[in-house]
Amino acid sequence: MIQVTSPFLPPKEEYLKYIDKIYDKKWLTNMGPLSSELEMKLKDYLGLDHLLFLNNGTIALQIAIKALELKGEIITTPFSFIATTTSIIWEGCKPVFADIDAATLNIDPQKIEAAITPATTAILATHVFGNPCDIVTIEKISQKHNLKVIYDAAHCFGVKYNKRSVMEYGDISTISFHATKLFHTVEGGAVVSKSPELTYRLSKLRNFGFKTSESFDGIGINGKNSEFHAAMGLCNLKYANEILAKRKEQYLLYKKALTNKGVDFQVINQDADYNYAYFPILFKSEAELLKVKSELEINWIYPRRYFYPSLSTLDYLNKQDTPLANDISKRILCLPMYHTLSNEEQDLISRIIIRTLKY
Ligand SMILES: Cc1ncc(COP(=O)(O)O)c(C=O)c1O
Repeated sequence: MIQVTSPFLPPKEEYLKYIDKIYDKKWLTNMGPLSSELEMKLKDYLGLDHLLFLNNGTIALQIAIKALELKGEIITTPFSFIATTTSIIWEGCKPVFADIDAATLNIDPQKIEAAITPATTAILATHVFGNPCDIVTIEKISQKHNLKVIYDAAHCFGVKYNKRSVMEYGDISTISFHATKLFHTVEGGAVVSKSPELTYRLSKLRNFGFKTSESFDGIGINGKNSEFHAAMGLCNLKYANEILAKRKEQYLLYKKALTNKGVDFQVINQDADYNYAYFPILFKSEAELLKVKSELEINWIYPRRYFYPSLSTLDYLNKQDTPLANDISKRILCLPMYHTLSNEEQDLISRIIIRTLKY
């Protein structure tokens, strides 16, 4: 069986060495030594000044919204994982959708500008599949209208934009280290900000608002992660270069096999050093997608419809008009991509797609 993804697992002995350390110290959670070491090593690896390790990428989004004290309307993308939208609602704000660019699959800056009202306080944009948004234009719009910017960089481990980590842009960026991600800590995530003041605020929000063990600086939540998760991150980080190199090889193999075969690809931002985390393909129609998907499934291959449905069609929201996202979400499919996927398995997947599209 070939799933859309399969987690990278480091050699068990390496993980167990860290587990021995945890048993010796009996420090299991609450910003322990391994969590601090992971934060330091991630900052080094990604080239960041500040990063806080959290228990997942959804809490990262929620405390980002909280830290910026956002109210009213937040302009966001309809083409993302559900958590991008629900975190806005969870924080008592209203998601307002701006449609996407059909080539990059990211939020279209022109549509952002058209969606601004007196109630707008921020833009929450996803770098979809790790492809950086049009950051320059979004920055101009945010400055012109005095809006905060949060980037959902859940897929962006190792991505650079103009030679700097893509997570350096915007007021706050969030990332997910969920097991399905290129770099993972089983469950996990992080928030990144250039501002020491915001980072301080985010660190209070992560830990119930504790200032000292007996005093508080505002309200907070439990956004901490455990030493066991940090240990997995420390093990996996040693393999990050290897994982990234393998993804690129796999991405290029799919691209070569499927070019001019009736499917389209996401256009990657030219100013990016991309991480090749996902391989989405766009079919001409949903009917074609469904035909290919079922043919793959007959062969025990399970791609995923990332992202479907379009978030602007969620039944708990008022309908909003985003025709491009609605159309694209119906005909996009992410092919299996993970470290141990073999060239032969990729060839098989490509051949099934090409064969099915011919008939
Ligand atoms: C774009 C995006 N945002 C947010 C999240 C939420 O991250 P987590 O699963 O770590 O809570 C995900 C997770 O897959 C995601 O893909």
